[in-house]
Amino acid sequence: MKSHLALLLIAALPLAAEIPVIPRPADVKEIETHLRISKDATVHVADPNNRELFLATLSEAAGFPLGITPADAPSTIQFLAENMLPDRFPIPEGEGYVIRIVAECANVHAATPAGHFNGLQTLAQLIRNAGRDAGGAIQLPGAYIVDAPRFAWRGFMLDESRHFTGEAGVKRLLDAMARYKLNRFHWHLTDSPGWRIEIKKYPKLTSIGGRGNESDTSPDAPPQFYTQQQIRDIVAYAKARNITIVPEIDMPGHADAAVRAYPEHDGGGFLQKGRTDKWPRFTFNPAKPETLAFLDDILTEVAALFPDAGVIHFGGDEVHFGWQKWPQLPEVQALMKKENLKDLAAVESWFNLRMAKTINGLGFATGGWDEIAARDLPADRTLVFWWRHDKPQVLRQALDKGFPVVLCPRRPCYLDFVQEDSHQAGRRWGGFNPLADTYHFPAGLQLSEDDEKQVRGLQACLWTETTVTQARRDFMTWPRLVALAEAAWTPAARKDFASFEKRLPAELAWLKAHGIAPYDPFAKSPEVTDQGAKPEYPDKPQ
Ligand code: ACM
Repeated sequence: MKSHLALLLIAALPLAAEIPVIPRPADVKEIETHLRISKDATVHVADPNNRELFLATLSEAAGFPLGITPADAPSTIQFLAENMLPDRFPIPEGEGYVIRIVAECANVHAATPAGHFNGLQTLAQLIRNAGRDAGGAIQLPGAYIVDAPRFAWRGFMLDESRHFTGEAGVKRLLDAMARYKLNRFHWHLTDSPGWRIEIKKYPKLTSIGGRGNESDTSPDAPPQFYTQQQIRDIVAYAKARNITIVPEIDMPGHADAAVRAYPEHDGGGFLQKGRTDKWPRFTFNPAKPETLAFLDDILTEVAALFPDAGVIHFGGDEVHFGWQKWPQLPEVQALMKKENLKDLAAVESWFNLRMAKTINGLGFATGGWDEIAARDLPADRTLVFWWRHDKPQVLRQALDKGFPVVLCPRRPCYLDFVQEDSHQAGRRWGGFNPLADTYHFPAGLQLSEDDEKQVRGLQACLWTETTVTQARRDFMTWPRLVALAEAAWTPAARKDFASFEKRLPAELAWLKAHGIAPYDPFAKSPEVTDQGAKPEYPDKPQ
């Protein structure tokens, strides 16, 4: 073993390495050797809790089943501690890992389960893309890979309210996110069209508020929501895949579905001409003690369902679109008097602080859309999601106030925008979101080094007004989410769109093999518009 390693060190060549992995690793050196992985190869997995998933991932990549290494027998693939690395390798920390593929074995070194999981994903892509010999054994090219993420938060947000995805679709999504080392699933569970999370204390939130969606507002539409048991199951499923789920309960705006179920909490909606009818109950009453207690109860149940989330997102967006009725509410009048609040923005601010206290008191940081950057929330317990790409001054304000920030501007991070100029269905706003723009983000922002330290990460968001079917949700999400994953993981100096385009076809094939139907930017596959499509009811009505 020793002499063999010495030989390999000499043979380690700093080739301009291009390995078939997305996101592109930080540092790769190819070695002139191959590891042969035959059908009797075995794996040593460090974390006994995740053994089945590790084996299944590698077996699927290999195309044949791999077994666990018996005690004291040599392994073909080993997941090892960081301190078992030879001296000349940097010690990986956190989510980082080192892979050494030599003639006898492939070793993945990491200091944490997350690091091992990320190394697993890299190794699985390498194995899937490697050549096979005549007997079907894999010829895995030798390499040293030293890798760690650029950003800690690599996220995707899914709007469940406008059209509902359901448990099977969410698990399929989590599988694919894990493959690309995305580690935050921001779950937008409540909004005006429908409430999608069971709250035991308030069953009408789902039995009434769960009915309907953006394309079916009939009161007889079957309720669609996640039971608490489903949520626990999905949270555990994500956790095994190094994904933290961050729930969003939007308030005080986007509240119609909840208020439909419990009208006593109504704070009124759009009063502008032409918009009166669409969201008449857009807000919660921001000042009624019973409403605040109702929201406290909801957040308490949510906190128990997502114990590791770290952040509970309380929305906070677009409130001014629907607050016109607030001055007529006696509770708002009394609050303004009592707290000496001069205008509705001050009422909104008071409400934000009040609810953030609950969230912080439950042991979570408060997440909110960038409107909350204007509020006086505690910077050490608040996370701002910058979404208004046309308001760079709001990002500046958030950074100057010391808030950590997740960057998810409509352009180029909202996946409900079209991805090709020729596409008809989807949003545009002074342009659209082609794959390359999502890939290059956030270069255009020209963040300073200090700014970048405050940026927790990047996130793509899929709003589902125009995605009636799962097929269209897939079409809009993929492959732009793969591009976002590389943007969030790979060091800026290693990003290269031409290289990404070479590595992407293999991943389009992987996605298709896993029941996901991505847009194919090479073949320019036909647009999935959902014109005339009927909403799907993927999970049986509860
Ligand atoms: C948002 O797009 N309203 C956050």
